[in-house]
Amino acid sequence: MSQIPAEPYVPRSIVVARTIADLRAAVADARHSGRTVGLVPTMGALHLGHQALVKAAARKTGYVVVSIFVNPTQFGPGEDLASYPRTFEHDLDLCAQGGANVVFAPEVDEVYPSGSLGTFVEVPADLGEVLEGASRPGHFRGVATVVLKLFHMVQPDVAFFGAKDHQQQLVIRRMVHDLNVPVRIETVPTVREPDGLAMSSRNRYLSEAERSAAIVLYRSLRAARAAVDGGECDATRVRQILRQTLESEPMASVESIDVVDADTLTPVDRLEDRRKVVALLAVRVGPARLIDNVSLVD
Ligand code: PAJ
Repeated sequence: MSQIPAEPYVPRSIVVARTIADLRAAVADARHSGRTVGLVPTMGALHLGHQALVKAAARKTGYVVVSIFVNPTQFGPGEDLASYPRTFEHDLDLCAQGGANVVFAPEVDEVYPSGSLGTFVEVPADLGEVLEGASRPGHFRGVATVVLKLFHMVQPDVAFFGAKDHQQQLVIRRMVHDLNVPVRIETVPTVREPDGLAMSSRNRYLSEAERSAAIVLYRSLRAARAAVDGGECDATRVRQILRQTLESEPMASVESIDVVDADTLTPVDRLEDRRKVVALLAVRVGPARLIDNVSLVD
């Protein structure tokens, strides 16, 4: 009797492009055969959250490019650029199983050839210098710059971003609008672990105890959402609920709690049906700085 493996073996039929020229050749072939092109930008260390973006891209476009590039310009001094996890072989499997056609994995010099560091995308302060942008100066400038570069390299019809990084997808949407970039942006819901922790490449920095403590982020977001669903309209009260729940976990150190308009990121006083509101958290647990958010009014 033959044994059936627990996990079905999926042959890896995926192209790896290391240079922009190779990438463009692969994409050009796909375009000539009439396929629409989807792009999923990532920094690697992929998990099922990233794979959900790849699957969405495979459902909605005919040819899926995943970029894997740890972008130095979006890391600040003292951040984890050097130690950012790299798991390339595993990443290729997740991409292939998600339905990607090509992985674009360039070296830093390919994306930033010497001398090209003078030009950056200037992100509007109202979106780029608040919340994450306030605690990570220059972060969104680096993100917008590398994403615009990737858009020029791939020229996708559609690009996919995660709701996990709510502010990031707003910054990208605004850039695309303001600079007339011919790409449609799709936002994919946050994928969570069974206990609610949002999947993140940085979760692997957590010890077992820290990993257990980290569920307090989602627990507090759920408590806030439950209060709003139960009729709470006072944003100050919602912020209190978030803070109290977070502070009940001694291993969690709160960096920021925000209850803001989901489109403009301006703080709200009252939660009303007329506008979408999102609650966002940044919390340090051990060595990791974790972010998460949920929609309170959608
Ligand atoms: P990275 O952190 O690798 O994330 C790549 C994409 O995956 C982002 O759009 C992010 O929002 C999405 N993502 C991460 N965790 C997710 C989850 N649990 N559920 C759903 N989507 C999730 O974000 C970046 O890289 C970089 O800033 C990048 C856009 C690639 C530019 O360098």
